[in-house]
Amino acid sequence: MIYLDYNASTPLDDAAREAMLPYLGRSYGNPSSSHAAGRPLREAIEKARAQVAELLGATPEEIIFNSGGTEGCNHVIKGVAYALRDRGKHIITSAIEHAAVLNACRFLEQQGYEITYLEVDSNGRVDPKAIAHEVRHDTILISIMHANNEVGTIQPIAEIAEIAREGGVFMFTDAAQSCGKIETRVDRLGVDFLTVAGHKLYAPQGIGALYIRRGVTLEALHHGAGHQQGRRSGTEPSALIVGLGAAAEVTRKYEGTARLSVLRDRLYDGLRHSLGDQVVILGHPTNRLPNTLCVGFRGRIGADVLSACLEICASTGTACHSGRRERSATLAAMNVPEEIAFGAVRFSVGRHTTEWEIDSAVEQLIRAVPSVRTADR
Ligand SMILES: Cc1ncc(COP(=O)(O)O)c(C=O)c1O
Repeated sequence: MIYLDYNASTPLDDAAREAMLPYLGRSYGNPSSSHAAGRPLREAIEKARAQVAELLGATPEEIIFNSGGTEGCNHVIKGVAYALRDRGKHIITSAIEHAAVLNACRFLEQQGYEITYLEVDSNGRVDPKAIAHEVRHDTILISIMHANNEVGTIQPIAEIAEIAREGGVFMFTDAAQSCGKIETRVDRLGVDFLTVAGHKLYAPQGIGALYIRRGVTLEALHHGAGHQQGRRSGTEPSALIVGLGAAAEVTRKYEGTARLSVLRDRLYDGLRHSLGDQVVILGHPTNRLPNTLCVGFRGRIGADVLSACLEICASTGTACHSGRRERSATLAAMNVPEEIAFGAVRFSVGRHTTEWEIDSAVEQLIRAVPSVRTADR
């Protein structure tokens, strides 16, 4: 297996697994109990909170743990909408957000909220000026992802956050893909809310974190016994949280990002060398995640290309709905022609990817692409 799908999920980091083990065995109890069985779990959770806060340039009180990226996006979008419903019902987002944002916004539309879905350019970039143009007296939130999951394009979040601040509007960035790949310090980005998905960060699946700037009111999604300052009730999953904390610390100290972009470019150069303009890069040519290479194999179907390379694990950018092939929302918003978009494959490398794997993937792909049938629309 050649795993080139780190944007979908990452393997668990060894240090994170080690750190979790005691909380899967001998250390049990409820972290909210003040007795001897509960106290060590509380201490472990608070250590993890500090580790995540340090990675994000936040303070521990500004971090809550949750189940991952989807929950964080829902919490911010619905939580701001409910908390500020007397002030306004307008939210600005982009057409290329993850479904966790888009579908939370669509849900709010059914409750009488108005959502502006901004278009992007052909590189998948949102124009901050277009955002400034859309801010109104009743705008309550701007929600723009830090980096796109399919093409990896990085958005000018600090600039957009400045516009939000000037307009007195809350700013949220979904950093599920960017955290661990590029810097995601909230003090530099200037955002009010930021989500982290553990399983994209070499932590376990089912755990995430949400940064909520100190003093900001956000309605809770989970009402209960008031855990995590009342922001997210429910007994904390100690082992998962400890895993996320350890993974955050490893990430903060990680120095191999430059290696990721070398591997990513080696993959593209290898494909381009043999396939020429049959392979088209999708996303921003330079300002994109160091590990992400989304390409369109011109005139082919991405799923066919991957089916012909059984060892390679990667993602395709098209889906079949009611028998009709459709471009992903991101590629459609970028106006990528169907001839290229249908052949889209996202390769994402990670800490364990080797040069050998890249060269072997290139070999398999350049053999497979000419052999798969051309796309019939
Ligand atoms: C940009 C982005 N946001 C949100 C999510 C959802 O995160 P999770 O899988 O942790 O719910 C993902 C997952 O792919 C993502 O890529």
